[in-house]
Amino acid sequence: MESVEINPTLGNFDVKKDQKTSLNSTETQSHWDQAYTKTSEESLGWYESDPKLMIDLINACQLPKNSPILIAGSGSTLLLDKLHEEGYSKLIATDISEVALSQLESRIGPSGITYILDDLTQPKSLKAIEPVKLWIDRAVLHFFLEKEEQENYFDLIKEKLLPDGFVIFAEFNLSGAEKCSGLPVLRYSSEMLQNQLGKDFKLLKSFDFDFINPSGGVRPYIYTLFQRIS
Ligand SMILES: C[S@@+](CC[C@H](N)C(=O)[O-])C[C@H]1O[C@@H](n2cnc3c(N)ncnc32)[C@H](O)[C@@H]1O
Repeated sequence: MESVEINPTLGNFDVKKDQKTSLNSTETQSHWDQAYTKTSEESLGWYESDPKLMIDLINACQLPKNSPILIAGSGSTLLLDKLHEEGYSKLIATDISEVALSQLESRIGPSGITYILDDLTQPKSLKAIEPVKLWIDRAVLHFFLEKEEQENYFDLIKEKLLPDGFVIFAEFNLSGAEKCSGLPVLRYSSEMLQNQLGKDFKLLKSFDFDFINPSGGVRPYIYTLFQRIS
């Protein structure tokens, strides 16, 4: 693992069922560490055995294999395995869960991947990374309920994305579920994402997709591909 910072304040924390507001950073880390500890990877509600749609969007960007690509809130996604197998050599996997990143690293290894433990809404280590050509977010942004969290996250994307770089979001759409992993989510349309990114980003692709989760539940997502145009 090339870069991991461990939060010494990590502790046990029970997430209340009717939680309406965002958790703080320590609570968030504890929630997700517990999720990845208690449930096998293939049973996680967001587990995708074949991230084909995401791979298709990434291929649509036509990036050289040595382009820096950041997978935000990567969890233990198989997308990393696929990109690694396809020869992408500058991958960054970042998450608030040390457990998820450890699972990822023990599966794929350190070669070609930088693992960064950080909070996307209060970034520290991520502030120091080199700019990336592609930013990928599946089922992460929709947890950021507070305006300040969203602003911090979008500021980070804008700070760390190269000119003419790409951003892919796959979030619960407006008819999607109201919770994920027991936490309330903010559901998105392409217009809402465009508003957050601003006029310097152009929407290249957008479509809805009904993801069937490992329990057989339907989870309607919106997939979007944006490019920075100035
Ligand atoms: C629903 S899972 C999706 C995981 C992965 N993107 C996928 O598609 O399999 C949400 C992920 O976001 C991470 N996460 C949640 N809040 C975060 C934050 N503030 N900063 C960084 N990662 C966060 C969680 O640890 C978890 O891995």
